Amino acid sequence: MEKIFRVYILILMSEHSDLKKIGHLYQTDKIDHGYLEIYENYFNKLQNKNLTILEIGIADGKSLLMWSDYFKNSKIIGIDIHKINLEKKKLNRKNIFVHQGSQSDKKFIDEIIKEYTEFDIIIDDGSHLAKDVKKSFELLFPSLKENGLYIIEDIQTSYNHFFGGNPFDLKYSNSHMNFFKQLTDSLNYQEIANPFYIEKKYDGKITNISFYHNMVFVRKGNNYKLSREVIKHSYEDMKFLEKSERTGKKLQYFVKYKIFYKLYTLLLFVLNTLKKLILFRI
Ligand SMILES: C[S@@+](CC[C@H](N)C(=O)[O-])C[C@H]1O[C@@H](n2cnc3c(N)ncnc32)[C@H](O)[C@@H]1O
Repeated sequence: MEKIFRVYILILMSEHSDLKKIGHLYQTDKIDHGYLEIYENYFNKLQNKNLTILEIGIADGKSLLMWSDYFKNSKIIGIDIHKINLEKKKLNRKNIFVHQGSQSDKKFIDEIIKEYTEFDIIIDDGSHLAKDVKKSFELLFPSLKENGLYIIEDIQTSYNHFFGGNPFDLKYSNSHMNFFKQLTDSLNYQEIANPFYIEKKYDGKITNISFYHNMVFVRKGNNYKLSREVIKHSYEDMKFLEKSERTGKKLQYFVKYKIFYKLYTLLLFVLNTLKKLILFRI
């Protein structure tokens, strides 16, 4: 009977893409969120590959079942803070692996990494609390493969204080949305014309960050490309080098760029540092 129902749903949904068809079959709420169209764009080329995919948050296992059908040749790993009854949720399949633990528990996540080594795709659909989303990213990002995708669902919780977000201070709160907004600077860190810039953890390690309605995609990859405008975060040093080499007027450009412009940059640095101190932004 169940088989007939599955075939019936597949025929009914035949105008949908593969992922949508499968999503309807398991009635995942990722359809109502509008996530499957976005996922399809990223995943259709990967569908038949042999991947290691981790999803944080299992609940009824609907998404694990969907990924298990869609990525037939991949390992689908699910983690959840609560115990999951595999029989009841029909998750006892060859390509599904389930573990119990918290997404922000370092010891537990380290064990998961030890077991699976690296991931091609990580989806965070767990607690959606700012502290957990940021902690799991910190713990799991190193185990994401080069060119791998880290996806955060339901980022609307950033705008809701009942979920540890902050709707009253959109730009400067410690919400997970702000964490990912700030991460975009790591894409361009080589261009930052601040000679006192201190390199950040993810600088050069991310090639793309895409924001969708309630969803963020981060692509890992080598992004250490040197700037064409600045040398070691200094515009003055680049200009001095460029102009003095081109014209041979070393002294003139030394005074202009290495003394005058450097003093101007230093003044701006001091003023901005004071501003940040006064506003408690350091
Ligand atoms: C939105 S549901 C997951 C839905 C599932 N991914 C799907 O699409 O069918 C969120 C799940 O995250 C789990 N969860 C909550 N806090 C967690 C934590 N700290 N670590 C891991 N899982 C957590 C909850 O138990 C719940 O099952």
